[in-house]
Amino acid sequence: MTEIREIRAGETGSAAEAMLLLRPRWRTAGAVVDLIDDRLRPAGYRLVGAFEESSDSAVSVLGFREVWSTAWGHYLYVDDVSTLETARGKGFADELLRWVIAEAERLGCEEIHLDSGVGSDRAAAHRLYMRNHLRISSHHFSLELGG
Ligand SMILES: CC(C)(COP(=O)(O)OP(=O)(O)OC[C@H]1O[C@@H](n2cnc3c(N)ncnc32)[C@H](O)[C@@H]1OP(=O)(O)O)[C@@H](O)C(=O)NCCC(=O)NCCS
Repeated sequence: MTEIREIRAGETGSAAEAMLLLRPRWRTAGAVVDLIDDRLRPAGYRLVGAFEESSDSAVSVLGFREVWSTAWGHYLYVDDVSTLETARGKGFADELLRWVIAEAERLGCEEIHLDSGVGSDRAAAHRLYMRNHLRISSHHFSLELGG
């Protein structure tokens, strides 16, 4: 039996394993929990996770924010989607994406946006987004700075 539920402040550690798989730059569970609780949550970041029975650690996580901008109005931005390798192919990411689409509708958002790399390591993610009817709507530009 799987439970899909929001991961609140104070239980962010339950998302750390799946999050570090996607975002290894944060290296340790402590570092990624501090980032999320101290910096991201105060700016509106939220997490939802899939939990298998009898485990306090999420097998799949999705991080998102409710955002307003001149370009897209009121929208929901998905920052992170990650499933542990041992739990892939069971529909967890699909369930989380459906949960967040429903949450965006509940919040009255006009759109959902996310960025995804174009390497072969993102092919499964692109299939996930396409089968949930997201479409490729822009190019993303970036510039690395010294600092
Ligand atoms: C992309 C990612 C999140 C998908 O997670 P997942 O939980 O395995 O996703 P799902 O189980 O919903 O879907 C995966 C596949 O299983 C299939 N599937 C879903 N439920 C299934 C079930 N009950 N039985 C069999 N197959 C199933 C899906 O159709 C999908 O098939 P496809 O890959 O051939 O399109 C995961 O591969 C991942 O973490 N990748 C690395 C991180 C990443 O790229 N994140 C996105 C950053 S933009």
